[in-house]
Amino acid sequence: MREVWLFTLLCFGLAVAEDGLNAWLRYARLPDNIIRQVEIPSSIVSLNSTETSPVYVAAQELHKGIKGILGRNLDVTHQIHNSRSIVVGTVDAFTTTSRKTDAPALDEDGFWLNTKDSMIQILGQNERGALYGVFEYLSKLAQGNLTKVAYATNPSASIRWVNQWDNMDGTIERGYAGLSIFFKNNTIVANTTRIAEYARLLASIRVNGIVVNNVNANPILLSEENMAGLGRIADAMRPWGVQVGISLNFASPQTLGGLKTFDPLDKSVVTWWHDRTDKLYKHVPDMAGYLVKANSEGQPGPLTYNRTLADGANLFAKAVKPYGGIAMFRAFVYDSQNLREANWKDDRANAAVEFFNGLDEKFDDNVVVQVKYGPIDFQVREPVSPLFAHLQQTASAIELQITQEYLGQQCHLVYLPPMWKTILDFDMRVDGEKSVVGENILSGKRFNKTLSGYAAVVNVGQNTTWLGTHLAMSNLYAYGRIAWDPTIDEVAVLQDWARLTYGLDRKVIDTITEMSLQSWPAYENYTGNLGVQTLTDITYNHYGANPQSMDNNPWGQWTRADHNSIGMDRTVWNGTGYSGQYPSEIAATYESIETTPDDLLLWFHHVPYTHVLKSGKTVIQHFYDAHYAGAETASSFPKKWASLKGLIDEQRYEEMLFRLEYQAGHAIVWRDSIVQFYNNISGIPDTSNRVGNHPWRIEAEDMTLHNYKVTGVNPFQAASGYRVVQTSDNSTAASVQTTLGYPAGVYDLAVAYYDLYEGEAKYEVFLNDKSLGSWAGDLEHKLGYTLTRGIDAHSATRVTFKNVRIEKGDVVRIETGVFLSPPLLVSHFIFFALYLSAKTNLFLDTADHHVSESAELLSSLSFHIGVHLLTPVNQS
Ligand SMILES: *[C@@H]1O[C@H](CO)[C@@H](O)[C@H](O)[C@H]1NC(C)=O
Ligand SMILES: *[C@@H]1O[C@H](CO)[C@@H](O)[C@H](O)[C@H]1NC(C)=O
Ligand SMILES: *[C@@H]1O[C@H](CO)[C@@H](O)[C@H](O)[C@H]1NC(C)=O
Ligand SMILES: *[C@@H]1O[C@H](CO)[C@@H](O)[C@H](O)[C@H]1NC(C)=O
Ligand SMILES: *[C@@H]1O[C@H](CO)[C@@H](O)[C@H](O)[C@H]1NC(C)=O
Ligand SMILES: *[C@@H]1O[C@H](CO)[C@@H](O)[C@H](O)[C@H]1NC(C)=O
Ligand SMILES: *[C@@H]1O[C@H](CO)[C@@H](O)[C@H](O)[C@H]1NC(C)=O
Ligand SMILES: *[C@@H]1O[C@H](CO)[C@@H](O)[C@H](O)[C@H]1NC(C)=O
Ligand SMILES: *[C@@H]1O[C@H](CO)[C@@H](O)[C@H](O)[C@H]1NC(C)=O
Ligand SMILES: *[C@@H]1O[C@H](CO)[C@@H](O)[C@H](O)[C@H]1NC(C)=O
Repeated sequence: MREVWLFTLLCFGLAVAEDGLNAWLRYARLPDNIIRQVEIPSSIVSLNSTETSPVYVAAQELHKGIKGILGRNLDVTHQIHNSRSIVVGTVDAFTTTSRKTDAPALDEDGFWLNTKDSMIQILGQNERGALYGVFEYLSKLAQGNLTKVAYATNPSASIRWVNQWDNMDGTIERGYAGLSIFFKNNTIVANTTRIAEYARLLASIRVNGIVVNNVNANPILLSEENMAGLGRIADAMRPWGVQVGISLNFASPQTLGGLKTFDPLDKSVVTWWHDRTDKLYKHVPDMAGYLVKANSEGQPGPLTYNRTLADGANLFAKAVKPYGGIAMFRAFVYDSQNLREANWKDDRANAAVEFFNGLDEKFDDNVVVQVKYGPIDFQVREPVSPLFAHLQQTASAIELQITQEYLGQQCHLVYLPPMWKTILDFDMRVDGEKSVVGENILSGKRFNKTLSGYAAVVNVGQNTTWLGTHLAMSNLYAYGRIAWDPTIDEVAVLQDWARLTYGLDRKVIDTITEMSLQSWPAYENYTGNLGVQTLTDITYNHYGANPQSMDNNPWGQWTRADHNSIGMDRTVWNGTGYSGQYPSEIAATYESIETTPDDLLLWFHHVPYTHVLKSGKTVIQHFYDAHYAGAETASSFPKKWASLKGLIDEQRYEEMLFRLEYQAGHAIVWRDSIVQFYNNISGIPDTSNRVGNHPWRIEAEDMTLHNYKVTGVNPFQAASGYRVVQTSDNSTAASVQTTLGYPAGVYDLAVAYYDLYEGEAKYEVFLNDKSLGSWAGDLEHKLGYTLTRGIDAHSATRVTFKNVRIEKGDVVRIETGVFLSPPLLVSHFIFFALYLSAKTNLFLDTADHHVSESAELLSSLSFHIGVHLLTPVNQS
């Protein structure tokens, strides 16, 4: 066993601890048996000796990578002395050496890689392309793929950007990995090391642009000091071929410039913007351009002055045009205050096409309209935005989201590319012709555009894992690869990433693949089904379950759920008319219930809960079944991950295991909240009788309480029985206790409680006065971001004690105490829920649910109590 372990360690270059900083660029040593087969030239030639040149940087990267992967220390020179070299440069630089290459004509950023001859050629159309080629070569090598190749590759689209939603104060909107690497205290950070490291990651996936600040932009970014700071950011990223752009606040001429107006057609406003732009380009001569969110969710914009969106966009386009910059203009324009649910025909989904109606020929040629993948807002499933079919003269780019705003906020594993593929592979049939979103439209081919492509909201932070957790990085990696080639196989990409990130062990790759591919379907199953959207708290943090928050407000993410029926009627014949925004073939498909796919049924149609799906189930029974199935899938993740112990490094193993266990618990919160809510509103029972039927769960309110009182919870369905217990004051220790009447057996015992971000309650659970263990309510640290201070479905969580021997008549007691070490206790809330779950099959007969053992583990023997103590902690 010991030998096997050592062997594995040597083979796969397991570091004792890996913190994730190197992501997929670890350059771990290959196993000796593979290294022995590698023939590699003895030197690297960089055809550019300027240190800030991407070609120079590429050669350095090659040196570093080969040293790591093969343990070989190659010379780096700038002249070709013999043919046994790896030559890196542009095609032009190479041909001036009078050597021959078979490289075909390349598009901008494309490259040629030839490893078949003794001289390995890595030649880019430009310097950036050469750098991309080096990363490709190193990726193959690091994966132990020694196949000799000679091929050229070109990007599908010229715009392959990322957006950061970083605020000037260093916080990040919808960021889950700590503070900004760019901004602090309203200025740009002094130390640009992490910025350069981020650029390196982006270059390795062929991302060529970044917008560094939040679309809800702070005009202070345009101060003299900050414009100089942007110059430093650009200097750090330029060697990696990443161009920097910024988000603008439309009202800046007024708020920052002191003008009376920000009317885009006002002369003084135009002059102000041109002046700022000229100054910016002095600091950042290759600035990529601007990104503007206007007239959206309270942001100012051209409509304030009765100007068109095109007037607004062209203002910026004209300012950056002389410098070759572009103006990205977000299509996320809608009226968030005046939509009325009482009006059957009101529909936020209609907004983008309506607002851009008649403007297609009005935009300057360097305006790119940036369109979210679906018409609402990054939901777990949306149909493709119909705006892509309408922007035929105007350049467009798709906006994806890597930060998992509505998709579990990096606390849930969700591999996103399968969802992106439902959009990118969709054929919109514009004018009856093949119009696949990725391959034809975003590539610019369908409407003959030179500017088009991709933007993704990433939101990396200071955390060494970049996104807050290790497995989430597959989404960033895959994004770059897919923007380069949207027809690429999302499974192959995932496996490249897994090999680069975790090594070559077959079991590791297979397990990560299996979990990742189940993750989005599972998340959709336990959050929102049939196109009803992610049933989260849309007016707050977009994280936990809160289906009732979707309706009865002007935000327009309605489900229109009543006692009998659910869904948005978006038909032309009887509804909001949205389906008519698609080209005719697609419009016809969505217009009719018969031809609308089940997974978008409630997006397009309002139906009774008893409506029978193509699957043969009713809508309500599908809700129930999907939620139990999804939570069960989530509960399998920790076990799958645990099977990798010893095959990957301890640090990443442990950090990921913690999160997956958390997810398994939170998936139950989701499941129970949603099924209870719809069971309650529809009055239709689950045919499998699972909803609200918890024979193995003991509700806290039914236990003996000491210094606890029973109280409600909001939303009500966030606790089984709709109630929790809470300590009666903020300073007294308290406990709950119950006698177990279950047959003897071995159980997993889970305590469910609400973990609020202020303070850290301390809990200890006893069985017959013997401590089973203790824990603290400190998820805000362990998950790396702030949750909530509410007793709700965001803060609901649980801890599990495995393999506990329980006899009939045993007494379980849970005590809550306080941390007296600093910070000092000032307050505590208390509410908790406690789960126990059977480990033996003993109870499967008595439990009335026809679920497998793992679901039994989730829903069986459970106490429901809640405890939380609050102490002041620093808020980020
Ligand atoms: C070398 O790199 C610098 C910086 O990127 C660039 O300005 C210059 O044109 C490059 N020289 C050649 C020969 O490619
Ligand atoms: C190795 O690389 C070649 C050439 O790119 C590719 O066709 C092949 O699928 C790769 N093999 C594996 C196992 O990934
Ligand atoms: C933040 O900036 C302000 C004004 O520039 C300065 O007075 C203050 O000391 C700074 N705060 C910190 C914590 O650096
Ligand atoms: C800059 O930050 C990096 C970590 O990102 C750190 O290693 C380095 O020491 C810092 N440099 C200075 C001068 O503080
Ligand atoms: C915009 O137009 C509306 C009606 O067309 C008018 O009431 C309003 O005053 C105008 N606003 C401005 C700023 O011109
Ligand atoms: C595409 O646009 C270019 C100019 O941008 C033009 O020369 C070419 O004829 C157009 N091709 C088609 C098929 O419309
Ligand atoms: C990164 O986040 C993890 C939680 O995912 C946390 O444990 C760790 O302390 C954080 N590290 C840094 C450097 O922020
Ligand atoms: C048609 O729309 C009305 C609301 O205007 C709605 O009450 C009715 O259920 C819809 N009919 C069908 C068949 O969906
Ligand atoms: C999702 O739910 C459906 C319907 O119950 C089920 O068939 C499917 O296996 C589930 N998938 C996952 C990954 O949970
Ligand atoms: C407990 O502390 C919280 C937070 O400081 C406070 O909001 C709450 O009112 C306190 N509760 C009691 C019963 O004192």
